Amino acid sequence: MPKITKRFMTLWAPAIAGLIIIITLSFVELYYSLKISDGIGLNSKKAGTPEGKKIFYKLGCVRCHNIRALGIKGGHVGPDLSGAYSDVKKVYKEDVNSFLKNPTGTMYFVLLLNRLSKEDRKIITAELKKAQNIQDKMKNKKAYKRG
Ligand code: HEC
Repeated sequence: MPKITKRFMTLWAPAIAGLIIIITLSFVELYYSLKISDGIGLNSKKAGTPEGKKIFYKLGCVRCHNIRALGIKGGHVGPDLSGAYSDVKKVYKEDVNSFLKNPTGTMYFVLLLNRLSKEDRKIITAELKKAQNIQDKMKNKKAYKRG
């Protein structure tokens, strides 16, 4: 085997193959990281879509909250958030978005070290509004059946 071919086979070929593998893997990784972050609702266009509700898992809200109207089963430390959109308005005299911006009570401590971004609050508010609509509709149906 000529010297130059031998050198190529033992040194350059493995090096080039290794580089190609590394580059391919980083592209695959990049693709999936983008796909996943999109899936958990970082994009506000996802609010109200099946992807939008994933934000409650991503931010850990489900550790303490159910949102049955959205089909989310979580912990029972906090109230079910299906009706929170109206409840917060009644109890705190402000909407969910500003409540989450300046939370009081337990939520003050929950969000103390994990401030919600403007984008996250927007998605959460949209999702809870949707949950409220679903819950109201279910209640109306029940009232209709009873009456
Ligand atoms: C460690 C448990 C815990 C976690 C995690 C948690 N919450 Fe809460 N949350 C509570 C409790 C308890 C309350 C009841 C209010 C109180 O006691 O001050 C509450 C109240 C609320 C309310 C007001 C509901 C109402 O009807 O008055 C909203 C809205 C809310 N949480 C949203 C969220 C969101 C959004 C997340 C995720 C970012 C979250 N919570 C994460 C425990 C939690």
